[in-house]
Amino acid sequence: MSTALRCPFLSRIPVNQVKKTASQLMSYAERCPVMVHAMSYMNGPDMMTVTDEPLEKQCPFFAKEGLTVSDVKSHISSLKDVAPKTEKTAPTADMPVAKATAAEATVTAPKYPSGISVEKTLEKIKLWGKGAEEEMKVKVEEEVQEKEATEAQQPKLFDYEDFFGAQIDRKKSDHTYRVFKKVMRRGREFPYAEDHSTGKKRDITVWCSNDYLGMSWHPKVMNAVSEALKNHGAGAGGTRNISGNSPLHEGLEAEIASLHEKEAALVFTSCYVANDTSLCTLGQTIPGVHMFSDAGNHASLIQGIRNSRVPKHIFRHNDPLHLEELLRKVDSGTPKIVVFETVHSMTGDISPLSELCDVAHKYGALTFVDEVHAVGLYGDQGAGVGQRDGCMDKIDIISGTLGKAFGNVGGYIASTSRTVDMIRSYGSGFIFTTSLPPTTLAGARASIQVLRGEEGKHLREKHQSNVRYLRQNLIEAGIPAIHSPSHIIPIHVGDAALCTHLSAELMNKHDIYVQAINYPTVARGSERLRVAPTPHHTKAMMDYFVSSVIRVWSDNGLELSRERSVCPDECEVCNKPLGIQILQAEEKVCGRSNCTYASLQDIFFTDNRRAVAMA
Ligand SMILES: Cc1ncc(COP(=O)(O)O)c(C=O)c1O
Repeated sequence: MSTALRCPFLSRIPVNQVKKTASQLMSYAERCPVMVHAMSYMNGPDMMTVTDEPLEKQCPFFAKEGLTVSDVKSHISSLKDVAPKTEKTAPTADMPVAKATAAEATVTAPKYPSGISVEKTLEKIKLWGKGAEEEMKVKVEEEVQEKEATEAQQPKLFDYEDFFGAQIDRKKSDHTYRVFKKVMRRGREFPYAEDHSTGKKRDITVWCSNDYLGMSWHPKVMNAVSEALKNHGAGAGGTRNISGNSPLHEGLEAEIASLHEKEAALVFTSCYVANDTSLCTLGQTIPGVHMFSDAGNHASLIQGIRNSRVPKHIFRHNDPLHLEELLRKVDSGTPKIVVFETVHSMTGDISPLSELCDVAHKYGALTFVDEVHAVGLYGDQGAGVGQRDGCMDKIDIISGTLGKAFGNVGGYIASTSRTVDMIRSYGSGFIFTTSLPPTTLAGARASIQVLRGEEGKHLREKHQSNVRYLRQNLIEAGIPAIHSPSHIIPIHVGDAALCTHLSAELMNKHDIYVQAINYPTVARGSERLRVAPTPHHTKAMMDYFVSSVIRVWSDNGLELSRERSVCPDECEVCNKPLGIQILQAEEKVCGRSNCTYASLQDIFFTDNRRAVAMA
């Protein structure tokens, strides 16, 4: 049986470390009065020796307290006859010294909170030795209170881990926490893919890919990528300025400039970076410029405008009249930039491009137009809505992506030579980053070339006809597919948890992958499933998709109603009431070309004509 005392040093060292260094520690034992005392108990009274060396050589703590040799001796001898209560304890980091050195010794000792002074420890040793356990417990409690009070007075340091945890919990509690699906697309067999999200492989079909035309696995694209890899390696090797520029970069930029009928183009590592960098650079360099931003703009456009720190005016989504109202208020000599998208990524709206540009130019503004969801997909050569609508020249600066319809990765702007050169020369997000690798440059160029030609036209036609077929069948089945004039078919759900649940059921029960889109990608209350059929989805696949959605809708007690309109009640521009009956009417909803929904009628007319012709 042995008495144990806590060492103010060892109690702070993890027990494993104490064990590892036990032999070295033991060599100091003779210099430590506590260890000497403990060993004397293990070895019998004859062995009890206390060195007469000056105390400061024995233990810096005891020395600091000004204890004398006789203090220690009398203390140790007073301990000799006192045996504290014993019980088995598991080894811990703050285990008493005696126990750390003698594995069999088992003792009960009050736990001392770390960070308590040596002075207090000494006092405790004395009290313990005299068997004053109760008194000692009180002392320990007092110390804890004292320590807590001191801590409360000290300025509290920011707890980063706590903060991050709370932010994540917030997301989890409102069902906006994102758990990514693990999906391996099957190259040439796309839209077939494998889901690996549950750890078990499952064959699925993908319905929400932005590889809209399947160009990521087009043979010509894959061949260009593999040739570039073989000939030039995997990486670019540097920024454009330092060893990262090549004929492949300049060739791709020339191809993009030609596609958009502009003098020059500049590629970036993504279109997020292209938008952010270009708008920020324009804002920071044009003196006194004001930005006019569409209310529905993508995060990259918002971020670029925000980073530029210039005055910002937000006009109602796709509303040239409101844009004009705002432009009129700013001095005519003030430089201005109007920023908007053509195809809206989440609603599938297409902006009244020509009208918005006309209004902007009337007030001396530049137009910065994001055609990310349109390039490759609209227009004779796939240059976007500007080409489709015959108004490419009204776009002063166009931005596009190489990562969606072009099937690669990266982004770009195209404009006049001076505009591009200015952004090239001042844009931080362009200058200070490794340039795109040869594989991507070659793959993207091959993809643009395919889509500019006959094959591209054919793919675009097939794409649009699949979109029409699927949308029409969903609407007819009473699924709330939002009417949109583009290739994006949003299915309205309106609740984050339900949206996630429906997406999971489609995957788990029907092997269909369609992503739930929740806040912040869309406003709360407008949560949706975003469906993007490609030219490679067959009619049979689309029929299966519709029947699966119907099944999931019914299984979850959701209403299937052709009458339930998910259109806005009225047109945002002309304020005429909208609804499926009006959209299907022979008479045009609105004569204005900038009416967002007038174009929907064209779709219905085309569908009806097709249906009649096929009957
Ligand atoms: C409208 C819009 N602009 C820009 C981007 C960014 O493009 P990238 O994916 O090339 O960064 C996106 C991406 O989804 C987008 O939807």
